[in-house]
Amino acid sequence: MKKIKESFEYISNLNIESLIKSIEINKEIINHVKVIKEGGEEKISNKVKDKLKNDDAYKVKFNKFCENLYFTYLYDEIIMANKIIKSMFPFDTYRKYDYYKAYLGSVEAEIKAGNLKEGDKIIFIGSGPLPISLIMMYEHFGIESIGIEIIPKVAELSRKLIRSLKLSDNIEIVTGDHFSIKTTENIKHVIVALAAEPKDEILQWLRPILSKNTSMSYRFSENPKLEGKLKELINNSKRRYREYDGYKTIRIIKPAPPTTNIIAVVEPIS
Ligand SMILES: C[S@@+](CC[C@H](N)C(=O)[O-])C[C@H]1O[C@@H](n2cnc3c(N)ncnc32)[C@H](O)[C@@H]1O
Repeated sequence: MKKIKESFEYISNLNIESLIKSIEINKEIINHVKVIKEGGEEKISNKVKDKLKNDDAYKVKFNKFCENLYFTYLYDEIIMANKIIKSMFPFDTYRKYDYYKAYLGSVEAEIKAGNLKEGDKIIFIGSGPLPISLIMMYEHFGIESIGIEIIPKVAELSRKLIRSLKLSDNIEIVTGDHFSIKTTENIKHVIVALAAEPKDEILQWLRPILSKNTSMSYRFSENPKLEGKLKELINNSKRRYREYDGYKTIRIIKPAPPTTNIIAVVEPIS
């Protein structure tokens, strides 16, 4: 199942138009997010460059693949979010998510990163259509949260999902980007999602507003997004680890497979 989902075939054949229509995402916003996402360096392997020169059909497919690539994570999450909302047993359906175990590994690492205890509250930047990390934080550890989501329709969908799980008192979804965070008072930990961009801007914005009791971590990947054969096609270096101006890394936590996200715990340099 996963193999098919992550394949070149799967991604190049996704119908993004119908996805946009299905949740009425504003196209301008999509383009904005896309531009942000394409800001990273992409390296196309020589093998693919040759194929692009010599094979027109492949070129069409490849362009479609590139166009769809950055939406795949949203696509899967939107489909799953809708399934949960429609389910008679939303919690059971949520637990069947393909990446449940992988996300749980990230969340456990973040519990350590923030030294989080039941009753603490966190902010999560880039909560997406299916804020699974926040649901897990509450379900397994009693941590409350505020999720920040830049695309209004996606935020709306995730609020609907949170309502279907009856967690609206514990998980709040705010429509906005990192600039909508004005204070971190009473917040124990801030998490920056793997797909939240631009990382540098997010970290610079947070630096002066991190209260002294608020810790922070961001997710990164050693094999960003793509693995196996797809890795040969495009190498997205943007989600790799790096040092950010004005911060020091105090800890790196690498969960066991199937989790691929690695957690960098950072602290402003005083
Ligand atoms: C793949 S999803 C979320 C991860 C996942 N649902 C979880 O619980 O860990 C990433 C989301 O971040 C949003 N996003 C990206 N940059 C952002 C930013 N600067 N502020 C808020 N949301 C952002 C995207 O629109 C996308 O919906």
